[in-house]
Amino acid sequence: MDKKKLIKKFDKQADKYEKYLQKQQGKMFRSKMFSKASGKTLEVAIGAGLNMPYYPKSIELIGVDFSPEMLKKARKAAEQYGIRAKLQLADVEELDFEENTFDTIVSSGTLCTYQDPLHMLNQFQRWCKPDGQILMIEHGISQFRSITWLQNRLNGLAKRAIGCNMNRDIQRLLKDSDLSIEKMDRIMLGSLYLIHAKPS
Ligand SMILES: C[S@@+](CC[C@H](N)C(=O)[O-])C[C@H]1O[C@@H](n2cnc3c(N)ncnc32)[C@H](O)[C@@H]1O
Repeated sequence: MDKKKLIKKFDKQADKYEKYLQKQQGKMFRSKMFSKASGKTLEVAIGAGLNMPYYPKSIELIGVDFSPEMLKKARKAAEQYGIRAKLQLADVEELDFEENTFDTIVSSGTLCTYQDPLHMLNQFQRWCKPDGQILMIEHGISQFRSITWLQNRLNGLAKRAIGCNMNRDIQRLLKDSDLSIEKMDRIMLGSLYLIHAKPS
């Protein structure tokens, strides 16, 4: 999909994401994963800042998103939760940071939207310090045939409605990437992936 259209799609969803933030949607998993962030932390496609409540106050956060409306909400969330954050309006697929820059890279619900998710995973490998960590919560294809069938059927609709693919094979993408997977739990009928990775 044309990126301008995709940005508009996400701009329109910013109020909805702010409500998710207020309700602390996904608190159990977000808190479990992202309270482990430390040091210089990059959050890609940060959206309305739904992970802000769970970050340790000591981190130095760089958040990137290409939706101006999402980024406005993320700025408010950083203030509300006292997180030192530099927020950058950019297409993260076009960005490049210096090699070995970040102690932690965070990604939640982003591999479903990129044009080239494998490229992004390989960028995490480049941008993360050798002793750093990559923490991800991603949704994708289930392990169960009936759910997979539904995900494949609904994928076109989800892409048009919210700019999101439901049927990406996250495990395959990770295996094909340069990253090394330390731990991966699959929950919610195998469609939600909690991933601890590191550079290989
Ligand atoms: C499904 S939302 C997830 C937001 C957030 N990560 C969360 O956990 O709530 C996807 C976000 O990715 C952003 N996004 C998608 N593709 C992007 C890209 N290429 N560069 C920057 N942001 C992108 C969208 O604007 C949106 O805020």
